[in-house]
Amino acid sequence: MLLLPTLITFALGISPLKTSTASPSQSVQKWDPNVCAVVVCGPAQNGLPGRDGRDGKEGPKGEKGSQGLQGLKGSQGPPGKMGPGGLVGGKGSPGEKGTKGDIGDRGLQGVPGLKGNPGNAGLSGPKGDKGSPGEKGVKGERGLPGTTGSQGQPGIAGSPGPKGDKGSVGEKGAKGDKGDRGLQGSSGLQGLKGQIGSLGLKGDKGSVGEKGTKGDSGLSEINLLKRQVSTLEGQLRALQSSFSKYKQVIMFPNGRIVGEKIFMTSGYDGNFDSLKQRCSQAGGQLASPRNAAENAAIQQIIVLYNKSVFLGINDIQTEGHFKYLNGENIGYSNWHTGEPNNQSDAEDCVEVHSSGKWNDRSCGEKRLIVCEF
Ligand SMILES: *[C@@H]1O[C@H](CO)[C@@H](O)[C@H](O)[C@H]1NC(C)=O
Ligand SMILES: *[C@@H]1O[C@H](CO)[C@@H](O)[C@H](O)[C@H]1NC(C)=O
Repeated sequence: MLLLPTLITFALGISPLKTSTASPSQSVQKWDPNVCAVVVCGPAQNGLPGRDGRDGKEGPKGEKGSQGLQGLKGSQGPPGKMGPGGLVGGKGSPGEKGTKGDIGDRGLQGVPGLKGNPGNAGLSGPKGDKGSPGEKGVKGERGLPGTTGSQGQPGIAGSPGPKGDKGSVGEKGAKGDKGDRGLQGSSGLQGLKGQIGSLGLKGDKGSVGEKGTKGDSGLSEINLLKRQVSTLEGQLRALQSSFSKYKQVIMFPNGRIVGEKIFMTSGYDGNFDSLKQRCSQAGGQLASPRNAAENAAIQQIIVLYNKSVFLGINDIQTEGHFKYLNGENIGYSNWHTGEPNNQSDAEDCVEVHSSGKWNDRSCGEKRLIVCEF
């Protein structure tokens, strides 16, 4: 707002006027900050020119003016946007039925249908012939060379060369003075490596190691063993009883047990050699009683079959000296009275009758087999 030209009010606190802008001769009232003053300025009449209003302060706001005249009517605006579509109208009433039309022309052929699913797989065909063998592969690359071997042993010294011709004896010269000592020769080539020395003496005994940690108490293991032994004892008893039963079954009716020995017949009849061979093939030998009990067991089998047997005893080697099959002289016999009698010079084998008595008999006769195991 412009300063009113007629009145300028200075108030306290306004920045002081600068007197440097006017000359000292001009009668301008000096502004004293401690005095409130009113200056009335009239029209400039040959007076001193007034100061410009640069330092004026904005005046108070004026009163609101009266309402202006109504403006002119504006020009017509552009057309508005298209409104939303109206609601669908109700269905009209059906028209009357028309007359039937003429038959139309044949329609165009339809498009072919979609391809059907594939059929089930057929049976597998016969196995094809074996193909011809493939071509032989190319030869592999040569392997890496091996490591260098250890140095070989030095060769044997060569034979001495031929002796040179003897030179002609020169004339004996006068003995010369003793020469100075010669220079030391260069050192010789290093000799061959020596053989490995003999084994050194046994070292001293090492110090005793640290004491080990305490072991578990053996008690639990002993108890475990006791249980296992008692289990084994039970199983052994069961096995023994079962074994004794099977033994009885096997001995019925063709076998007899005497101590550790078992006598058994298969019912076969044959001459001495064939009986001897059969028992041997079975892992035993022809029955050779060593005492009365064993002879009695053989007798029981004879009675059972009502057939005499041949024993594994004969005097084929020396007449009158009956021996077992192992060549040992017999230690027990049960000859019938008057036997052996070497009748008709051909009785080297021994048969036993149902009485248990022995008789010498020709080895070619056929008797019942009884083997001992
Ligand atoms: C067979 O039985 C008969 C009649 O008991 C008897 O006479 C004969 O000695 C018996 N033979 C043998 C080898 O045991
Ligand atoms: C018995 O047979 C042998 C041959 O085996 C013969 O040397 C002997 O003379 C026969 N007679 C008697 C009685 O030993």
